[in-house]
Amino acid sequence: MNNKNILITGGAGFIGSHVIRRFLIKYPEYHIYNLDALTYAGNLENLKDIESNENYTFLHGDITDEEYINSIFKKYQFKNVIHLAAESHVDRSITDPLAFAKTNILGTMILLNAFKALWDTNWEGKRFYHVSTDEVYGSLGETGLFKENTSYDPNSPYSASKASSDHFVRAYGETYGLPYVISNCSNNYGAQQFPEKLIPLFINNVLNDKALPVYGDGNYTRDWLYVMDHAIAIDLVYHKGVNAETYNIGGFNEWKNIDLVKLLCQQLDAKLGREEGTSEQLIKYVKDRPGHDLRYAIDASKINTELGWSPTVTFEQGLSETIDWYLNNEDWLNNVTSGNYQNYYKKQYQ
Ligand code: NAD
Ligand code: DAU
Repeated sequence: MNNKNILITGGAGFIGSHVIRRFLIKYPEYHIYNLDALTYAGNLENLKDIESNENYTFLHGDITDEEYINSIFKKYQFKNVIHLAAESHVDRSITDPLAFAKTNILGTMILLNAFKALWDTNWEGKRFYHVSTDEVYGSLGETGLFKENTSYDPNSPYSASKASSDHFVRAYGETYGLPYVISNCSNNYGAQQFPEKLIPLFINNVLNDKALPVYGDGNYTRDWLYVMDHAIAIDLVYHKGVNAETYNIGGFNEWKNIDLVKLLCQQLDAKLGREEGTSEQLIKYVKDRPGHDLRYAIDASKINTELGWSPTVTFEQGLSETIDWYLNNEDWLNNVTSGNYQNYYKKQYQ
């Protein structure tokens, strides 16, 4: 794909901001349009360093606003889309499932319709890249890995909405010939992740001497990937992925939550000059997440053999860099944890 205008949705969020930065630095011939509604999870601070780049334009809008979406496709004639905008937090999907259906399903369909209306059947040189999650596959037992042909079996309103959006993308490919590619990735971590997700939430709580709320018995397993490695994979899938294919992306890096939390506590104690074991004392087992998936683990051999991708950053290194980022960006953390965050936190954890 070498067309110059690319629409990236959800670029003010965690993963999207890393993708935009990578594309602007690596491909100075592109112009990146970042479409974002700036929900609680969207933050233009995440893009402060590149906001005045002449190859970057921010479009403040909502993917569920059909008229607006049609108007920007008409105006900018987007041939290529990388779609990341979504409601992304499982716990919020449990309290407000409709918001997830609206953005993740309807919003994706509105983008697909605008793309289809603009290009009709003239698909040469066009691509709709849908960024999705491994949660669509449901939960693994103690063994096995998610492969690209694993059946969809989502358990949370979040994963059901993402599964539905994946199905619509595929259906538009089958029905209208719309050129698409999908990737399904495991748990990301890194700088600028909103502190509702496990790692940044626990870093923030340690810094504030607050309890670390481990759901259930803590023996749930996730496959962690450094966000920069996801951005590299997205770059490869966008440029080299084959139309109508799906690529699983994962870290080959499974951790039980409780082991991860203990490692995080050890690294934090060392960096904060606290006695070993101090942060671990904050661990508190709390009521489990309803419908909690036991284990996710990705078989990323397809993207490895076909596109030459593999993770470049070890977990210990990535985690250490992530903690450093939060320690060095206290203002960012304070800004996003004031106001509405406090209400969310109370509702979720008390
Ligand atoms: P995030 O919550 O940090 O960011 C989402 C962004 O989308 C925010 O900037 C938000 O303002 C924007 N947005 C939300 N609703 C919108 C709407 N209606 N219109 C326009 N913009 C809207 O999410 P993230 O963690 O960066 O995830 C990005 C994508 O990657 C999502 O599609 C998610 O499902 C997928 N994904 C995430 C992970 C992960 O571990 N975080 C893993 C695999 C896949
Ligand atoms: O697998 C990819 C998915 O990973 C993405 O699609 C989602 O957008 C992303 O949020 C993430 O989903 P998880 O539910 O796995 O991530 P979260 O950080 O919310 O939780 C990770 C694990 O930690 C999970 O087993 C639940 C547990 N947990 C989480 C929180 C927030 C706790 O024990 N306590 C907590 O307070």
